[in-house]
Amino acid sequence: MIKKIAILTSGGDAPGMNSAIFGVYTACVQHKIKLYGVIGGYDGLIDNKFTEITFDTLNGRINSGGSIIKSSRSPRFLKDTYIKKAIKNIKDNKIDALVVIGGDGSIRGAMELRDAGISVITLPGTIDNDLHFSHTIGYDTATNNIVKAVDNICDSLSSFDYGCVVKIMGRSCPDLLLSSAQALHTDLLVTSKDFDLNSLVKKIKATHDKNHLPTVVLVLEDVVDCTELANILQEKCKFQFRPHILGYIQRGGSPTAFDRKYGYSAGIMAVDCILTKETGFAIGMQGECLVKKPFAETVK
Ligand code: F6P
Repeated sequence: MIKKIAILTSGGDAPGMNSAIFGVYTACVQHKIKLYGVIGGYDGLIDNKFTEITFDTLNGRINSGGSIIKSSRSPRFLKDTYIKKAIKNIKDNKIDALVVIGGDGSIRGAMELRDAGISVITLPGTIDNDLHFSHTIGYDTATNNIVKAVDNICDSLSSFDYGCVVKIMGRSCPDLLLSSAQALHTDLLVTSKDFDLNSLVKKIKATHDKNHLPTVVLVLEDVVDCTELANILQEKCKFQFRPHILGYIQRGGSPTAFDRKYGYSAGIMAVDCILTKETGFAIGMQGECLVKKPFAETVK
């Protein structure tokens, strides 16, 4: 019989994580299961930071971005001694199953726990969309955040003759940049280190000469330095270019209706799977449906 479930969020926070916690909480209340939040992701698991999640924990916060139980990137969780410590804490606290919300690093952590006999389910919470689901929780909100921010930049640029090089999150995964670019109707993109500078300059000149769209170049983080690229483009295109780093504006903020519904229903399904003893799976969206996939099939 399942009496206690624990939940943690790991890696970069993603809007909709709180809705997922709410989904898990709602199903736990329905089945008279106690829900514990692990404060600070895998680090909290190592340091035994469990706290019961109640209505008060969630009250007024389910529609906010970030994670109400905090997150971490845990280099310690790559080491056997700390993984063993975390497993001991799960057992000592008599936790029957664990729900992990996060990206690919979080799934790798979940695999370690599963291999040690812990019942674990993961939900894909990351703005990067770098997992084998059609969407991850937070991706839709982050795309909308970027589109709104670049629209604002364009408003201002349209009054001047400036161009802008905007750095977009996503690590090495271009999904966030590409979906934003589609919505912004631009093909001024840099998604790899060996991009074709001459062709970019040609496209910029054509856009700038037509003058119906402001010149905004979207650059995937870690690919090129925005300031350097802005300087090069300024020299080659003969008008001013400014670098712009959007940063955490992309990751924060109130989740879209899509991410709220996604997080909530995935949370409910996680508890259903735990009750039917179908653990060791990642639950996420494929097309219009929530599906279960083995962990290894979700990591790109
Ligand atoms: O994984 C989400 C993400 O926002 C990436 O797009 C980005 O590279 C990274 O997190 C930034 O992480 P941090 O906030 O820890 O620097």
